[in-house]
Amino acid sequence: MDGKTLLFCRPGFEKDLAAETMNHASHQQQGAYCQTLDGLGLVLVNRPHAFRLLLGDLIFARQLYETAENIKDLPDHDRVTPIVRWFQSQEVDRFQDIILESPDTNDGKALSRFLKKFIHPLAKGLKQEGITRASQDKDAPCLHVCFLSYQEAIAGISWRGNQSPYPGGIHRLKFPKDGPSRSTLKLEEAFLDLLPGGLKHPLFTKDSCTGVDLGAAPGGWTYQLVKHNIFTYSVDNGPMSPDLLASGLVEHCQEDAYKFRPRGRADILVCDMVDQPSQVTNLIYKWFSEGWCDLAIFNLKLPMKKRFQEAQQCLDTLGALQPRILRAKHLYHDREEITVLMEK
Ligand SMILES: C[S@@+](CC[C@H](N)C(=O)[O-])C[C@H]1O[C@@H](n2cnc3c(N)ncnc32)[C@H](O)[C@@H]1O
Repeated sequence: MDGKTLLFCRPGFEKDLAAETMNHASHQQQGAYCQTLDGLGLVLVNRPHAFRLLLGDLIFARQLYETAENIKDLPDHDRVTPIVRWFQSQEVDRFQDIILESPDTNDGKALSRFLKKFIHPLAKGLKQEGITRASQDKDAPCLHVCFLSYQEAIAGISWRGNQSPYPGGIHRLKFPKDGPSRSTLKLEEAFLDLLPGGLKHPLFTKDSCTGVDLGAAPGGWTYQLVKHNIFTYSVDNGPMSPDLLASGLVEHCQEDAYKFRPRGRADILVCDMVDQPSQVTNLIYKWFSEGWCDLAIFNLKLPMKKRFQEAQQCLDTLGALQPRILRAKHLYHDREEITVLMEK
């Protein structure tokens, strides 16, 4: 093997990410093997140079270091030198930023104060060896160090277009005071990170858009649509937030989502129902094939085992419709589900 790539995921999903990575390796006819750091949300991929992994293509990955190395036995009195030496060995002479990270676990979070302090001696140590900051140089790599403990870290390098700007790939969002449910953050994150152009997408700039929210109660996803002035048909037999109903931008349709028929084409369909992924997939398939929407964001609640295989099966079904965009991501605010964006 020529080198290692480090991938981050939600702790507990390491095997799913490894299965997904091996699927990419097999498509590219590359031999690779994955070492899962179970419970830490990390997967080290031992790979040949030619094996190309893209963060945007991986459902379960949050962050990616294209080149990575495990550095053990960091001495308490000088953790900087072994890390700087490794970056020197990679022939790095400048960097856009240094990102210090730790696993998304309680032990990892306990390192956060240390990480804030460590950035200064590390930057100084790099500078002393001629590795300088070039913040404006978009082609310069980002240098990462993921501390597993005070004694052990994985150092790595990421490049523009194949990295998350958020430490650990975690995009934290603030829960709005008047949000009807925490689920609202899932759709907000999808708008920001999954939708091409984010909030510059035509959905948010066009006048008078309409949306349909299947399985809407109590209204966290409808809240996001209303926030962007999208008139929403909220389909659910359960009760909706009275504030949303009073907004004048919501019609509560107390119906079964599988039987609901829209009055015209919706600018966006969203769906956050807890149901079999294959059932939700068939429902979305129907919406697109009937021409009831051109854009959808929906969740697939995955089983406890073989999550990647299940997700892939659903995506294959929808892929048969040849959409322009079909992207799935295990977002930070997702738990047992993944979020899918489909645009015709
Ligand atoms: C996870 S909750 C949705 C939460 C919502 N997205 C939010 O942000 O507040 C799932 C909802 O789907 C609804 N649901 C499940 N099956 C449904 C069906 N066949 N038709 C309509 N609603 C359904 C449930 O009543 C429940 O309110």
